[in-house]
Amino acid sequence: MGLQAEKALLNDVNFAVINFYQQIQQGLKLDISLENDEAAYYRHREEFNRLNLKGGSKGKVAQLFYYLNRTGYNGLCRFNNSGGYNVPFGRYKKINYQTDFSKYQTTLASWEFSNKDFSELTVNENDFIYADPPYDVPFRQYSQKGFSWEDQVRLAEWLASHKGPVVLSNQATDRIVELYTKLGFKLRFLDAPRRISCKVSGRKAVKEVIATLGI
Ligand SMILES: C[S@@+](CC[C@H](N)C(=O)[O-])C[C@H]1O[C@@H](n2cnc3c(N)ncnc32)[C@H](O)[C@@H]1O
Repeated sequence: MGLQAEKALLNDVNFAVINFYQQIQQGLKLDISLENDEAAYYRHREEFNRLNLKGGSKGKVAQLFYYLNRTGYNGLCRFNNSGGYNVPFGRYKKINYQTDFSKYQTTLASWEFSNKDFSELTVNENDFIYADPPYDVPFRQYSQKGFSWEDQVRLAEWLASHKGPVVLSNQATDRIVELYTKLGFKLRFLDAPRRISCKVSGRKAVKEVIATLGI
């Protein structure tokens, strides 16, 4: 968003994420009740899962997704194997919900959104690619199918085969560092604060890697 790219293709295998942005393109406004209340949260979560899994109103799915993401535990986005959103209620004292997303509409107007596995994307050979895959850590269940080590390798090889510039971010585990080094990427390391963990100890900085190719 900060780059204000004139043209961009944003892809995520998770329908709810992409649908949310597509609904902003169409002028998303929230008219559902926005209460930071446990019972209301679980009612909304149940409705979201029903609509999301059965292909219900995309506008309503986007509204509920925003509410759940703001109200649920630590801003986590997690789906179980059956595609159900299973994040528990959060413990925020106060939440400033946004109801009008029209200020983002102009920026998003010329961007394309798609919802598929990265390997199915059509890219031009000099396109700039930024990949932000699930981190190589035990928690990878952002989407129904998760992201295995085989997926990490598949992504790294797909990125390495791209002729244009590539930037990848991931957790700097030994095997990720080895994988991208072997494929000829340049690596830089950062201390990235983690915001997902509930425990203060789990929020300390972890080593993150930025791997680049063709830059
Ligand atoms: C670390 S998150 C990054 C999310 C996003 N970049 C953001 O800033 O909100 C990793 C994302 O990869 C997506 N993902 C998982 N498997 C994928 C696949 N095979 N193809 C495309 N996206 C995938 C997940 O749904 C998740 O949203």
